[in-house]
Amino acid sequence: MAKGFDFGVERLAAGGVVVGVHVGETQEGSLKPALRGQKAEFAGQRPAPPGIRGTFFLETFGCQMNEHDSEKVAGVLLARGYKQVQNTEAASIILYNTCSIREKAAQKVFSRLGEYRTTKKEGQIIGVLGCVAQQEGQEIFARAPWVSLVCGSASYRKLPEMIAQLEAGNMRVTGLDTDTDETFETEMTRRDNPWRAYLTIIEGCDKACSYCVVPFTRGPERSRGSASILREIKELADLGYTEVQLLGQTVNSYADPSDRKLSFSELLVAVAEVPGIRRVRFTTSHPRDFGKDIVEAMEAVPGICNHVHLPVQSGSTAVLRAMQRTYTRDEYLGKIAMIRAALRPISVTTDIIVGFPGETEKDFGDTLSLLETVKYDGAFTFKYSPRPNTSSLKMPDAIPEEEKSRRLGILMEKQREIQAGLNAERVGKRHELLVVNKSRRENQWSGHTTDHKVVVFTSRRQELLGDYVQVEVKSAGENSLVGEDVSDW
Ligand code: 5AD
Ligand code: SF4
Repeated sequence: MAKGFDFGVERLAAGGVVVGVHVGETQEGSLKPALRGQKAEFAGQRPAPPGIRGTFFLETFGCQMNEHDSEKVAGVLLARGYKQVQNTEAASIILYNTCSIREKAAQKVFSRLGEYRTTKKEGQIIGVLGCVAQQEGQEIFARAPWVSLVCGSASYRKLPEMIAQLEAGNMRVTGLDTDTDETFETEMTRRDNPWRAYLTIIEGCDKACSYCVVPFTRGPERSRGSASILREIKELADLGYTEVQLLGQTVNSYADPSDRKLSFSELLVAVAEVPGIRRVRFTTSHPRDFGKDIVEAMEAVPGICNHVHLPVQSGSTAVLRAMQRTYTRDEYLGKIAMIRAALRPISVTTDIIVGFPGETEKDFGDTLSLLETVKYDGAFTFKYSPRPNTSSLKMPDAIPEEEKSRRLGILMEKQREIQAGLNAERVGKRHELLVVNKSRRENQWSGHTTDHKVVVFTSRRQELLGDYVQVEVKSAGENSLVGEDVSDW
């Protein structure tokens, strides 16, 4: 069941919590535990100088879900009359949308907050959003007292209210709920890319992979109603978007909460059928919930892009069991066989973690051999990073850092060889690209294929951004494809 928002406010009021250099010393007993023992350095929120009032700067780290959350946060603030600015100097509110998937990403947050501290102007509000906000909560105030807003992704709809509280002089606000069963729908989303739109269809995660913080930072799975999704897709098509990417931590676990009860594959088809939409992508798929119906939908409807991101994490059944991934190596390979048997070629990419506690040389060898077998079109590879709250945190037989690095190096090298081979096979082939970038070089552009390969190409034509062009691949490297516009025009 949903519980109400945990929306905490510490008020600077007479007789209440009195904090601040202009008033006196911190009254320790009245502070939350995380803040005790720390001398207050920063006072209650003062008004921003008139020149920058009503403006915000938003910086984003992490996955596409975070990027898209930031687009929604920007939309919510713009709809309330705030103006987005491109540097912290010009902003009355600085928001930092954070990632905590691995320790390094989380550490970055505090060093960035340190930078913000040195440049902070009187009256500026500094807010931490996203996964580190959710994970660290009030601890952030203790480590960075110049921060006055901490808000996890499930509380974003409350952001304008929280900011209003700060602007009214409150010192600190938090929004740390993870248990709302609503998804974050906005009246306006300020999208970064005018041709490809992200759209979250399912938030949170109900899986319990033993290494992963996401179930803690983003809360349980909540799917968005299919009618609301399709309404937004139609609006996007009307605005000129031709490619949409459906997002979710486990996008294919989608469960339509409305009476229509569309399955994920039915939703894919319905989205692809919206007039004006030429391409539908989806990420990330969980292998356990990846059924034949998805492949059949891809076979039947060309608008559904022929790319599947299907993280395997390890090629060893023993490690997969310890990771609580809920499938074996053979079961995963069964899903790959199903995808490879499709009537049109479907590219497959993956995520892999090396150095999970207890991973033996043989387990690692199993991952290498899986790479050989599957021949992924791309792989994101990571060293295992212990994360707070996760069940793998206390597992024995941690792999030393140097050994993790050694395994990662070997894995990446193997993947590079595989990609170089696959890319070389594309030389001489033709692909349709959606053009999304113009290079600074004369006549050079780049775009992506339906199977998610980026191709840099030359064309004598002008004004190609947002267009679909036919390109013939002329040369290939392990990470690049170079081609020429061969469209009839
Ligand atoms: N350590 C290393 N990699 C991780 N990932 C998730 N949690 C961890 C962790 N604790 C990787 C997984 C996931 C991707 C988004 O990040 O491979 O699929
Ligand atoms: Fe994390 Fe596993 Fe959920 Fe993916 S499926 S978000 S790895 S818990």
